Amino acid sequence: MLLSAARPLLGARCSVPVAGLCAVRARALTRGKTLSVQRQERCLHCHGGAALQRQGPAPPELKDIRQIPGPKPLPLLGNTLYMLNKKNGFDPQDFSVFWKQLMQDFGPIVKLKIVSMPQMVVTLNPDDVQTFLRPTPDHPTRFGFNSVAKIRKEDKTGLFKDNYGLLTENGPRWWHLRRRVQAPLLRPKNVAMYLPAVDGVACKFMDSCNAATARPPDAILVTPLPPWFPMLSIALEAIQEAEARLEEAKALGEPDRQLTIMETFLRTDGLSRSEVATMILDLIMGGIETTSLSVGYALYLLARNPEAQRRLQQQVDAVVRRDEPLKPEHLAALDCVVHVIKETLRLYPVAFANARLLTRDAVLSGYRVPAGTFVLGLSGLVSRMEEHFPRPLEFLPERWQRDRPYGAIHPFASLPFSHGTRMCIGKRLAEQEMYVFLIRAMQRYTVTYELDHDVVVQTQLVAKPVTPLAFKFHPRTDAL
Ligand code: HEM
Repeated sequence: MLLSAARPLLGARCSVPVAGLCAVRARALTRGKTLSVQRQERCLHCHGGAALQRQGPAPPELKDIRQIPGPKPLPLLGNTLYMLNKKNGFDPQDFSVFWKQLMQDFGPIVKLKIVSMPQMVVTLNPDDVQTFLRPTPDHPTRFGFNSVAKIRKEDKTGLFKDNYGLLTENGPRWWHLRRRVQAPLLRPKNVAMYLPAVDGVACKFMDSCNAATARPPDAILVTPLPPWFPMLSIALEAIQEAEARLEEAKALGEPDRQLTIMETFLRTDGLSRSEVATMILDLIMGGIETTSLSVGYALYLLARNPEAQRRLQQQVDAVVRRDEPLKPEHLAALDCVVHVIKETLRLYPVAFANARLLTRDAVLSGYRVPAGTFVLGLSGLVSRMEEHFPRPLEFLPERWQRDRPYGAIHPFASLPFSHGTRMCIGKRLAEQEMYVFLIRAMQRYTVTYELDHDVVVQTQLVAKPVTPLAFKFHPRTDAL
């Protein structure tokens, strides 16, 4: 604002040189030349802008991190006992209760110190989330998978000797992996390659839904991975199959075909076989429960909002037939399903918070927060706040339409996949899976929820329903 108000001051031609102008502007002035609008703007955004800003009212004084409200810390123990006290909302089954109560008691930004953890700052301000997730020059640092890291460190098979994996690594070891795997996983062309396979699985699932009982879909959708789930053997088997396919293709003189994601990993310079295996494990760990739970919440919300379900069915019916394979063009034409998923992830984000260890100093809600602080943006609470989402507890997928009928949406107020260089690497695959599932479900069924109470959700690593998602799938007789 300051800059645009001051712009006329500079005019098309300045006659009085001002100390502190940038080289471009100073050179132009000494030669008696005028600057193009673009070059003037460049000036305003560097030294000229700073000089002008100095003439305006002084910016509000930044406050010290020590002034951030929070429970009084004890010597050595900090707020550890406070956090473990049931009276303060501590519930090992549901961490969200503690965070909710903390923010109610102390306000939108709170400071906390837990033994063996760095100083912690927790915020409900989406501007703060933008500040700490945006900067990308350093390696974004996150922790929270300590048990996985420990198992991998202590593993005797040698599988994790080079690297403990994308989920748990930080610093250069994380970037070594991330820069090699993110293009294959996030490139739209690669994701679209899996559309026929995902579509096939979705259609098969729909055929298996038994209209007479609510149990089968419920059981399939929300069962967590059992501890015996043979993740490692699945990963190793998949690698062997991919290696065999690559060998075969080589023997046949490399026919011109698009490589699968796994084949691309195996062909990537600098990725060892064990790193590929670890990557596959992380994709299974990061991808299965998150996506299936989110689809479960979407069905639940649609079942409880028949009007929204009907609108989605109408759009799906208009765009694609039941017997037609789904193509990227269909997905592009189905904005309703995108809005349904966005609204579902706003109301039921599986990840409750976005977290980073600050690698450089930052200003959060007007407080100076030093590097080394652990910051937490409670996205699970922010995305249900009325100031960001009018009628916050209602399921209103249309609020995500381009014309934003319920008002503008802060881009960091609902952030289910996080943001920046360390955002969810499976975002596009997950979105595609969820869209396909809902499209195929809506074509064949109208879904109802069979219980007379709201689903109860508890948050540990992910937010899970602890009451059954008891659906009934009623075959549609009105669709093509
Ligand atoms: C609805 C589905 C999903 C949600 C809501 C979700 C959410 C998230 C979030 C919030 C993060 C943390 C990002 C950060 O710290 O900035 C994350 C990371 C990650 N996700 Fe997802 N995810 C989903 C599906 C998937 C899928 C399908 C895959 C695999 C194919 C996957 C693999 C991963 C991996 C490997 C990471 C770690 C990335 C890194 O640290 O560099 N996720 N996800």
